[in-house]
Amino acid sequence: MKRITTTQLRRKPRDGERIVMVTCYDATFARLVDEANVDVILIGDSLGMVVQGHENTLPVTLDEMIYHCRAVARGAQRAHLVGDLPFGSYQAGTEQLIQSAARLLKEGGVQSVKLEGGAEYADGIAKLVRAGIPVMGHLGLTPQSVHQMGGYRVQAKSQSAADKLLADAVALQEAGCFSLVLEGIPAPVAERVTAALEIPTIGIGAGVGCAGQVLVLYDLLGLDERFAPKFVKKYDNLHRRVVDAVSAYATEVRSGAFPTEEHSHYTSH
Ligand code: KIV
Repeated sequence: MKRITTTQLRRKPRDGERIVMVTCYDATFARLVDEANVDVILIGDSLGMVVQGHENTLPVTLDEMIYHCRAVARGAQRAHLVGDLPFGSYQAGTEQLIQSAARLLKEGGVQSVKLEGGAEYADGIAKLVRAGIPVMGHLGLTPQSVHQMGGYRVQAKSQSAADKLLADAVALQEAGCFSLVLEGIPAPVAERVTAALEIPTIGIGAGVGCAGQVLVLYDLLGLDERFAPKFVKKYDNLHRRVVDAVSAYATEVRSGAFPTEEHSHYTSH
């Protein structure tokens, strides 16, 4: 099976197609998500929150990202795989950025990397692209800057902040990014940025005007009943279904209804 390339992704908006991206962190879900025909799987550092149970994404290490990238790469054969560069794995300088990104491709088996930040990373991104590493940018609400933002707040609300975001987006495009995540910004700002760029934008909490959409897999599946922000649509209520299924199992084990003869092995002698 042929894997989706960055060239195909860049062409999609021109062909009138929207890009479908979802996060994923393990081989089992990767197989399911691939079967569901998504275009891009992001092995996002959101795994720090939804898999590891941290309060934010900051504790996630590059080694942990590589571990999850490898698992996803074993499960998904078709979707384009983007590995997230975690906090602290690229901020120290271009050399660190290139080494970390190379490890995600070499050891993690992904085809491209994503990093959070604007024009300040343009030189590093240009070097990555020259080294043959495709890069997805990420602007707006950038979770690795949670402490600087003072929480997970919608960004680029003022005219000057929106203008800066647009300038950052253009700088990332010029540096060679093949696409750009726009997270947590007003819909009109995302529309303006999308119209100004040739590369596709992929929105999350950024309205309807982006060239594609990304959601955290566990959010769209409804795995956490406490988490219901405005930008998430829950396509299922797996929280309830998982609790019900495991409760049914527990009840049957306690009552002796499971296992039965049907689930037992017998030797012939
Ligand atoms: O880590 C992540 O899941 C992300 C998406 C929310 C874009 O960066």
